[in-house]
Amino acid sequence: MRKNIIAGNWKMNTTLQEGLALAKGLNEALKDKTPKCDVIVGTPFTHLACVADAIDTGKIGIAAQNCADHEKGAYTGEVSAAMVASTGAKYVILGHSERRQYYGETAEILKTKVNLALANGLTPIFCIGEVLEEREAGKHFDVVDEQIKGSLFDLSAEDFSKIVIAYEPVWAIGTGKTATADQAQEIHAHIRQTIAGKYEQTIADNCSILYGGSMNAGNAKELVAKPDVDGGLIGGASLSVENFLPIIEAF
Ligand code: 13P
Repeated sequence: MRKNIIAGNWKMNTTLQEGLALAKGLNEALKDKTPKCDVIVGTPFTHLACVADAIDTGKIGIAAQNCADHEKGAYTGEVSAAMVASTGAKYVILGHSERRQYYGETAEILKTKVNLALANGLTPIFCIGEVLEEREAGKHFDVVDEQIKGSLFDLSAEDFSKIVIAYEPVWAIGTGKTATADQAQEIHAHIRQTIAGKYEQTIADNCSILYGGSMNAGNAKELVAKPDVDGGLIGGASLSVENFLPIIEAF
């Protein structure tokens, strides 16, 4: 069964104390509620274990925002998938456009990271999306297809069925410019078709495809109402309970 998911990506925001307060605040706000979607917070590495201790992880899942492309060893400053899993985190955001753009993450590197995440029991939230010039040139369908094929299509059907996809058009991230619900639906349906072309239709039907890019309380309802939009990956609006909660409640 396809899951609805609202995931926050805190990016490089909040000190440990601020992050803990945010996570606890969300935990408190959801205490007597039964959200109609899975709720995830994507915290910095430094916060993972403390946040896992402080909240009801049965209600709020925890994601890292990256993991290393090596299993372990002499890679100073890196954090492995096994380390992430040992904190209590169940998810890892991989392939975010900021990682691709600023840290040179290629399809090949991401393929390795996805494999390591899966081997350590983590669910990858795999981000794809085109830049503005690609959309204006009408290449966005090809771009997302290549991103999926380049990092995910060597997976077995069983492993692919563990992946969550997040479509995040780069031109909509942090810009206040959201894809329209129709634009999101169009490309999400295309992504699902691409998956169905490689794996079985049921695997495509069961894959959660999230939208990301300036999603907020004002536009979330319209976006998640679309049949192929199964939730959101939220940056700025996930940094306060006041802004994040109404997005969770958009379902
Ligand atoms: P914003 O919601 O701030 O546009 O960020 C989206 C994003 O990049 C989530 O991963």
